[in-house]
Formats: sequence, C-alpha cells, structure tokens
Amino acid sequence: MSIAVEVIDPAMLDELVAFAKPFERDALARWPAIPQPDEDALHASWQQRMESGTGVVARRHGQVVGCLQAVGPINEFRPSGQGVYAPITSCLAENAHADHVFTTMLTALGEVAAFAGTTLAAFTCFPHHTRLNASLTQNGFGVRCADAVTLISDLLANVPDTGLTIDEVHWGDVAQLAEVKESLAAHLASSPMHMEHFQFTPEFLAWKSEQRESVHIVARDGDRIVGFIEATYEGENYLTRSPQMRNICGAGVLPAYRNRGVMRALLVALANTYREEGIVTLGVDYETFNPNARGFWERFFVPYTWSWERRFDMPWGAP
Ligand SMILES: CC(C)(COP(=O)(O)OP(=O)(O)OC[C@H]1O[C@@H](n2cnc3c(N)ncnc32)[C@H](O)[C@@H]1OP(=O)(O)O)[C@@H](O)C(=O)NCCC(=O)NCCS
Repeated sequence: MSIAVEVIDPAMLDELVAFAKPFERDALARWPAIPQPDEDALHASWQQRMESGTGVVARRHGQVVGCLQAVGPINEFRPSGQGVYAPITSCLAENAHADHVFTTMLTALGEVAAFAGTTLAAFTCFPHHTRLNASLTQNGFGVRCADAVTLISDLLANVPDTGLTIDEVHWGDVAQLAEVKESLAAHLASSPMHMEHFQFTPEFLAWKSEQRESVHIVARDGDRIVGFIEATYEGENYLTRSPQMRNICGAGVLPAYRNRGVMRALLVALANTYREEGIVTLGVDYETFNPNARGFWERFFVPYTWSWERRFDMPWGAP
C-alpha cells in the first residue's frame, strides 16, 4: 500500500477535523457516560493544538488515512528532557492499515525540523483501536496514563461506614491537607512509579487549588485529615470540558487507613455533592503504572483513553 506523508499545514485544519470526526463519534457511542461535546468542540480543540505544534498527515490517493499532530516541543516535558505530545484525536490511523500508517507517520514526525532535540513522545489514543495500539507497542511505546469515566448515578450505592468524619474543605483552607498530599507525593515517588517527588508546601497547595478552583472532600480521624479526593471543572482532554461533567484530579489515603472503604466513602460523598448540582458524569485521570490508582479507579470507572509514551536514546535530529 503506497501512502504519502506531508507536514501538516494550518490550511488542512478543516480536512483533519473532518477525518477525526468519525473517530470522535465512535468513541462517544462506545462510552455513553462521556457528555456530548458541542458540535464545534473538536474543531476548537484542533485549532488550539495546531497553534501550539505541528505534525504529519498520511494520504493514499490524496485521501487522509492518518494524522499525527503534536503539541511542542515542550521543554522539561519530564525531568528527562524535551518532549512532544499528541492529545486525543491527534494520533489516528485508518484501522485496516494502522501499523503501516502509524509507523510511517512516526518516522516522518521524527524528521520534522521543529521537533529536533526531542527525546520523549507521548500520544493519547482510544483503547479500542487495537491495531493502532499494537503498532505503538511494536514501536517501543508503553501506556502511562488513562482517562476514565462513570455516571454519577452508578456511584450512589451503599456507602461503607468508616467511622471517620467526611466533609468539604474550601480551597482557601487546603494547607490542612499537607500531610495527606505529601503522603500521595511519597507514594508516587516510590516503586514502581519512581515519579519526581513534588514538595506540597502550604503555599503551593493554596496556589494550585485556587488555580484549579478545586473541590476537596476529606476524611478526618479526630482533627487529622487521613484521606482526600480533589475534583475540578476540566480534566486533561477536550471531551471533559462539559457543564455536565466534573473531573477528579487527585486522591489519597494515609497508608494506615487504606483498604477499609475510605476512598469509596469520599468518592460517594463527591458524587452526592455533584448530583445535587445536576452534574451527571465524573471523570478521572491517573497513571496506569500506579497499581493503587489503576486498581481503585478501574473498579468504578471505565478507561476511554490511553496515553502512550516512549523515550528515545538520542534526540531527534541528532547526527
Ligand atoms: C488508591 C487509594 C486512594 C484507595 O483508597 P482506599 O481507601 O484504600 O480504597 P477503598 O478501601 O475505599 O477501596 C474501595 C474498593 O476498591 C477496591 N480497591 C482499592 N484499591 C484497590 C487496588 N489497588 N486494586 C484493586 N481494587 C482496589 C477495594 O477492594 C474496594 O472494593 P470493594 O468495594 O469491592 O470492597 C489508596 O490505595 C491510596 O491512597 N493509594 C496511594 C495514593 C494513590 O495511588 N492515589 C491515587 C492517585 S490518583
């Protein structure tokens, strides 16, 4: 099969959105808990990402059969260096020849002059595109993160009695959460995640929470906060930007309090808060390589994206 690859030109915006639209429709049909986005949401999202990066398009007989559009280059994407990132619907390939199309596009992307120096690439895809995902694996990528979704009405079953007090903390008072947030940071820095260890100073917590306009629900044992769940308006992809949806962006329970229903009680309390406001869907994003997160979230939520990542031994464009 002969395909031609070109660097994406801003004039291709409408053509690429038209190519991506059936993939969006297919995803919405498969995961009905995702709220219907505005008709122009995909277009707006593509426009935004084309302003902050570039990519390649694959064609057969002039027709688009794949696209790989990446935001970046992003300095210090990870502590290890410069990266590029393709958000959801930016990394697509026709199913029948997904391996050939993706491999050809990846080769061409690594030769785009604007991305010289890149040592890390991350692409978000839908989990049901099995041929594309198999090609990513063969090309050295592994899944790192997921977005998942559930209907709030599916979360309102029996709440376990934890014997703890559950209440909400205003974003201005989040400095109280320093111990439990630090415990989450320590967990993420430990094996098998080995993530960078952020310091949750009271000032950083207050700033971050104000930026995100976060809702924090906490579990208290006496005066001590032993668990929290944090949610905000937007998640990490354009499909989460809906008035009907809210998105969990952090959660943790101190080690001594785990496995006794604390996070489940916090999740149900959060769901109840949002249900009263007319919100119907809850989303969450998490690291799939964090076994606690994957085990817990996939007990209640269904993943609808996987973000694949790969580090390269040498920077793109190196002689
Ligand atoms: C993930 C975490 C918040 C779960 O909190 P928890 O209070 O221990 O969870 P719960 O006791 O409420 O568990 C509720 C249900 O999820 C299940 N569950 C919890 N962790 C699980 C895991 N790792 N794998 C599979 N199932 C799990 C429980 O078995 C329970 O199922 P049940 O309702 O059938 O009995 C906790 O392990 C934690 O703080 N981990 C470290 C920080 C972290 O990874 N946070 C997530 C980052 S986004």
